[in-house]
Amino acid sequence: MMRVLHIVGARPNFMKIAPIIAEMRKYPESFESVLVHTGQHYDPKMSGVFFRDLELPAPDVFLGVGSGTHAEQTARVMLALEPVILERCPDLVVIVGDVNSTVAAALVCAKLCVPLAHVEAGLRSFDRTMPEEVNRIVTDQLSDLLFTTEEDANANLLREGVAPAKIHFVGNVMIDSLVKALPKIERSQASERLGLERKGYALVTLHRPSNVDDPASLATILGALADIGGDLPVVFPVHPRTAQNIARAGLATTSGALRMVDPLPYVDFLHLCANARLVLTDSGGVQEETTYLGIPCLTLRPNTERPATVSLGTNRLIGLDRRSIETAARAAMNGGVSEGRVPPLWDGRAAERIVTILQPSEARRSAA
Ligand code: UD1
Repeated sequence: MMRVLHIVGARPNFMKIAPIIAEMRKYPESFESVLVHTGQHYDPKMSGVFFRDLELPAPDVFLGVGSGTHAEQTARVMLALEPVILERCPDLVVIVGDVNSTVAAALVCAKLCVPLAHVEAGLRSFDRTMPEEVNRIVTDQLSDLLFTTEEDANANLLREGVAPAKIHFVGNVMIDSLVKALPKIERSQASERLGLERKGYALVTLHRPSNVDDPASLATILGALADIGGDLPVVFPVHPRTAQNIARAGLATTSGALRMVDPLPYVDFLHLCANARLVLTDSGGVQEETTYLGIPCLTLRPNTERPATVSLGTNRLIGLDRRSIETAARAAMNGGVSEGRVPPLWDGRAAERIVTILQPSEARRSAA
């Protein structure tokens, strides 16, 4: 029996851990799962509703670290997590993605010599001004098992000197959650509730510090969105960081065609995504979800750590000035985005592959 401690903290972690826990539960003789929530995200709309939609068990341990500067938040996770690891003595710790909770957990486990598996390893934007890039590099160096979502990630890890035996290309657990939720996504009434016609609106998400922390950049983007709203309704579920910055910069009263709403639950958000004419985003996960769903995606960033979404999928990186955003959006509205392909192994079975690799060797032998 292997005791596995799964660590989550922020919204994009929940849909990545859910399929792994669900898969391990199929083998109760092999795995005992303990779920730790750091509390990096704590608003019900950023956390609780995702547990419901993803059928995640309630966390066994809640660390309640909350918000803060990068050092504060990372340090608080480390301080709160260390005694949990010492008490629970896991055989393996599983971390996902690239948020501050991820790197904090990696540091704690590496110092305590607890084996560490990183899911979604090897992604690189090559932009160290992005906090997640720092988290990704450190986490990968400290991990014992690295599960990758796309082939570029393998090349990045090998270039950084990670031993090939540690790296496993397994596909995308985020897509596992999406595939499982497809029937619920179809049944969701979110578009009707918001008075939106299918394929008759644009969906926006925005929360990168590089876009929303600077009032001038934020004003430029909101201006472009309001203009796009003249042609097509724009619905914008606003992340708490972005909401605060919009309020602080006095930008809350934009045109009526730009509909700002609260953050949406997982299923409702993906329903809006699947039925949008186009999506504009600076999120990592949304670039992947739109690629899977075949929805045109314009990414408001100069780079992406998920190149398969551009080379194979429906994603395009666009400039951050008002004109480029508007021009790219108009082209996408008029069908000017090439059809994409779903990247290899984004098939809903990534967690299955991960759990097969993690099976204690006797169980693997008897299953063979
Ligand atoms: C974090 C991740 C980012 C991820 C994003 C998804 C890091 C460095 N960043 O960014 O990679 O894409 O989550 O959402 O880990 N806040 C609330 N309620 C909450 C959480 C946050 O109001 O439940 C507000 C707080 O004012 C906080 C701010 O949002 O200071 C930012 O939260 P934080 O967790 O620091 O980073 P995110 O921008 O959410």
